[in-house]
Amino acid sequence: MKIDNSPRPYRLHPGRTAHTLKPRAQRFAHIVGWGMEVPAQVLSNSDLEAIVETNDEWIFTRTGIRERRIADQRETTTSLATRAAQKAMDVADLLPSEIDLIIVATATPEHSFPSTASLVQDLLGATNAGAFDLAAACSGFVYALDIAAGKIQHGTIQTAIVIGAETLSRVTDWTDRGTCILFGDGAGAVVLQGSDVPGGVLNTVLHSDGSGWDMLTLPTPNSRDTYLQDGLHQANRIYMDGKGVFRFATRVIADSIKEALAPLNLTPDQLSLIIPHQANQRIIDHIAKALKISEDRVYSNIVRYGNTSAASIPIALAEAMEAGRIRPGDLIAFTGFGAGLTWAASIIEWSAVPIKPSYTVTWGRRKGEYALAGLRRPVVRWWRRLMLLSPTTWIITARKILVRRREQIQASLQKPPKDE
Ligand code: UT7
Repeated sequence: MKIDNSPRPYRLHPGRTAHTLKPRAQRFAHIVGWGMEVPAQVLSNSDLEAIVETNDEWIFTRTGIRERRIADQRETTTSLATRAAQKAMDVADLLPSEIDLIIVATATPEHSFPSTASLVQDLLGATNAGAFDLAAACSGFVYALDIAAGKIQHGTIQTAIVIGAETLSRVTDWTDRGTCILFGDGAGAVVLQGSDVPGGVLNTVLHSDGSGWDMLTLPTPNSRDTYLQDGLHQANRIYMDGKGVFRFATRVIADSIKEALAPLNLTPDQLSLIIPHQANQRIIDHIAKALKISEDRVYSNIVRYGNTSAASIPIALAEAMEAGRIRPGDLIAFTGFGAGLTWAASIIEWSAVPIKPSYTVTWGRRKGEYALAGLRRPVVRWWRRLMLLSPTTWIITARKILVRRREQIQASLQKPPKDE
């Protein structure tokens, strides 16, 4: 980080509260839980041959993808995100009520508002958490991780859940063979927790070059692209200049990792594992070459899931943990890139010692809090409706109910008895 000491056209007024603010002890943000959820439905390259003019050989050699997962009618960005978050909470052995913040990085939220994070918060029963979505496309997970880690390091929160979740199959143009072969659905989540033990998220760099916005877009009906009569694009469909994005990605990724390592006095060869956004196997291979490290130190699972945008890094992390590829003390890097254009890299000193999830007291309480969340929802909704009524409306409504009831009783008394 560069500190600019040049004079500014303002001065800062000394804070009135300075004497009451105590300096906070240094805090570190550690990843202590991880989880992933993908739909069961598999769409293979040969299945795609029936949809567009393509073939398994072209797709595999140009992208490294063999198959991807597609959400069924009941699965949504929220349901996948919630499941991934629950799995991450199982690993961290955490209660929903202990979460302070939920961030969902997604390009396919269910609504512009409310945020998908708010829906996840409700489903989890995380009643003490703030929640918001973050839009930085395929870089979204790294951006969200940085925001959550920053709040933990600042000491304002203790526990956050960062989720990357997508249902890209719902916005894919299934007539465009240049894009429809790439994308898949899924979600991954991590639990971040504060500690005074050094390590965890060490440094993150975030970048954007909005001049390349039109290289990869998913316009809404509100976009200039779509609302103009001669609009270029259809709303809710992905458009991509594949070659342009490929060139951009291979130009920036390695440099962003080096940039994130530099202030820590670390070099790429000290990284045990790099988990990049899974966009194309050729891009993943390029990272190893550009950083002069062996290919097995750059994690890849694109063959099974395709490009799941903001979800790809946390899904890969959960798989890497499951496969024992990360050990306490390892230095790892996340790197994301995509629409915006945006790109980002984060360096993490892994500290969590994985313990097999077991049926602890917290496990039981966690299940209890999920069940309570299910009960709480209808009760709170009805209560809120009732509370919206002013006292006068309450009295008028109560009178109406009583009058109607009296009329019903009178009507029933006046009815002639039925013939036997
Ligand atoms: O997550 C956000 C970041 N996204 C990315 O990083 C994506 C980056 N880009 C890419 O991964 C690649 O550009 C693609 C995989 C999308 C495309 O690969 P490419 O090597 O750049 O192919 P291309 O678009 O230049 O097409 C080469 C040829 C064309 O035929 P002609 O014009 O040479 O006769 C295409 O029409 O391949 C043809 N083609 C296909 N053929 C069979 C394009 N798509 C297909 C297909 N099956 N699915």
